[in-house]
Amino acid sequence: MPSGDRSGYRSAIKFIAGVAVFLAVVVWLYARYVYNPVIFGLRDDFVHAVPNTEIPDGLTSLSAESCGSCHSAIYAEWKGSIHAHAWKDPYFQAYWKHDDHIWICLNCHTPLENQQPERILDLKGGRITKPVKADNPMFDEALREEGITCAGCHVRDGVIHGPYADAKAPHPTAYDPMYRSTKICYWCHQVPSGPFQFYNGGPCATFFEFEDGPYAKRGFTCQTCHMPEARRPAADGGPVRDTRQHLWHGGHFPDMLHQAVQMKLTGPEGGWKPGDEVPFTLTLTNGGAGHKIPTGDPDRYFRITFQEIGPDGKVVDTERHTITRWIIWKPIIIEVYENRIPPLASRDYHYAVTARPGYKLKVTVGYHILTQRQKRRLIHRYGLPPDTVDHFDLAEWTVDLGSGHLEPQVAGGPPAPLDPLADIPDTGHCMPHGHPA
Ligand code: HEC
Ligand code: HEC
Ligand code: HEC
Ligand code: HEC
Ligand code: HEC
Repeated sequence: MPSGDRSGYRSAIKFIAGVAVFLAVVVWLYARYVYNPVIFGLRDDFVHAVPNTEIPDGLTSLSAESCGSCHSAIYAEWKGSIHAHAWKDPYFQAYWKHDDHIWICLNCHTPLENQQPERILDLKGGRITKPVKADNPMFDEALREEGITCAGCHVRDGVIHGPYADAKAPHPTAYDPMYRSTKICYWCHQVPSGPFQFYNGGPCATFFEFEDGPYAKRGFTCQTCHMPEARRPAADGGPVRDTRQHLWHGGHFPDMLHQAVQMKLTGPEGGWKPGDEVPFTLTLTNGGAGHKIPTGDPDRYFRITFQEIGPDGKVVDTERHTITRWIIWKPIIIEVYENRIPPLASRDYHYAVTARPGYKLKVTVGYHILTQRQKRRLIHRYGLPPDTVDHFDLAEWTVDLGSGHLEPQVAGGPPAPLDPLADIPDTGHCMPHGHPA
């Protein structure tokens, strides 16, 4: 080998070694100073828990059950809600373990300091991962079980805050217009992205998709859809009022998913003959959600499946589509793609199949809390109970390809009072939302 080649070889090795050392240093610096296991940034109003509070005068406990002794209807609604399960939720527990039980999660999932065993006094260098902690003498373990309990939203410094200026209650009350605006929801439903994270709207950032959207413009608040109106006493035996049901149904409730998305399957108007290549169209319309679908947790997705099924029941062909956001989590968090459906928008999915007698077309739409792969990981590594519900079937149609025609098939869609195209009755209750500061 000529010596010139050999020195070129050596300098190439030197160069590669140099690059490797440089990369190692960069990775080390990155891991040491930049990489943050926490998938969101800090925002002043959720970085602190709601400060420890005394039990309001006239009451004996902060527990939801005790509020329920006078607010029985609201208590029953809350008890069935995801908010009531925000701590016990097996998905929360599994992910919290995955995230090394980091304190910050608690400020939204168990928002009262009384629900947290430790107080956070300071953050070293302003970093989520460097909290200065102290034991919390007012920690109430039973209250922690209640997740986003009544007091988390209503009790501040021993006083019960609410939407009325004229309440006559056996406990101190204070009026706050926030309860009839989106500000109360913004607090937790708008997670900002952190440094070196490239999201278009952070995880669980539903508010971001709602503000400036068609529903916000019409004066809807989150409550319009998630806390339906009810004329009834706010407290047992009290005066009848305009109240709101404390339901907060969302992606864990098939009724709400049906309300969000209208699904329509159509074939060629004039029908088809055996042997034709028949085009079918599935149209999904986000007619009932004030934000994108899916929203919130980036694990969520819709799955559309077209299947051609032979006379023996065997699947001949399958085509799948997914509606979601695709995020790469490591080494930096970056959203590479998203195709979620904005409010009032529609999307068509086409599938063509040869019409052979005895063959069928099966079309399904499902909503998934998370992927099977991710679920298996949570089961094996983080103790998720295997029977935790992970999806809902929203629509399923089977078309006989020998039949020669298909009447349009429709499932889901918003009920009349929430239909954006219908007139909203003016009850004086759908007040325009105050824009949070
Ligand atoms: C002994 C009965 C009783 C208990 C216990 C009770 N409340 Fe009340 N509460 C009332 C009554 C009565 C009213 C007034 C209703 C009205 O004016 O229509 C009221 C009003 C309210 C209001 C509206 C206040 C406003 O100004 O808008 C809220 C919110 C509220 N209660 C929350 C709670 C919570 C949270 C708890 C538990 C920590 C609780 N209540 C426990 C009886 C009770
Ligand atoms: C996630 C926050 C949140 C939680 C948790 C919560 N509330 Fe409310 N509550 C609200 C909002 C928002 C309103 C205002 C609804 C409206 O516009 O009428 C409200 C209103 C009320 C009212 C006045 C009647 C009404 O519907 O306007 C009472 C009483 C009340 N809540 C009691 C309770 C009790 C009791 C619990 C627990 C069982 C509870 N709340 C849990 C947010 C919450
Ligand atoms: C203290 C924080 C907090 C506040 C305030 C709050 N939420 Fe939530 N919300 C959460 C958390 C945390 C979850 C998820 C809990 C879980 O699944 O573990 C959630 C879940 C939900 C869901 C999903 C339900 C489902 O079926 O998946 C809806 C809808 C919702 N909230 C609506 C609202 C609305 C509307 C408001 C304002 C009136 C509000 N929330 C206020 C923290 C909050
Ligand atoms: C026009 C009615 C409407 C309005 C306004 C609305 N939502 Fe929803 N929301 C829905 C429907 C319907 C669903 C069910 C579809 C879904 O889960 O994707 C839903 C789902 C959700 C979910 C569940 C996400 C999951 O885990 O699957 C959350 C969280 C939520 N909404 C929060 C909010 C917040 C916060 C606001 C206000 C900023 C709001 N919504 C405004 C109708 C509405
Ligand atoms: C700023 C408030 C906030 C913080 C902080 C927060 N969450 Fe949440 N979390 C939410 C909201 C709001 C939802 C509901 C979104 C939805 O339903 O899609 C939610 C939903 C979830 C869910 C989905 C629950 C389900 O049933 O599928 C998990 C899991 C979760 N959070 C875990 C965590 C963990 C772990 C942390 C800490 C690393 C954390 N959260 C911190 C607000 C928060």
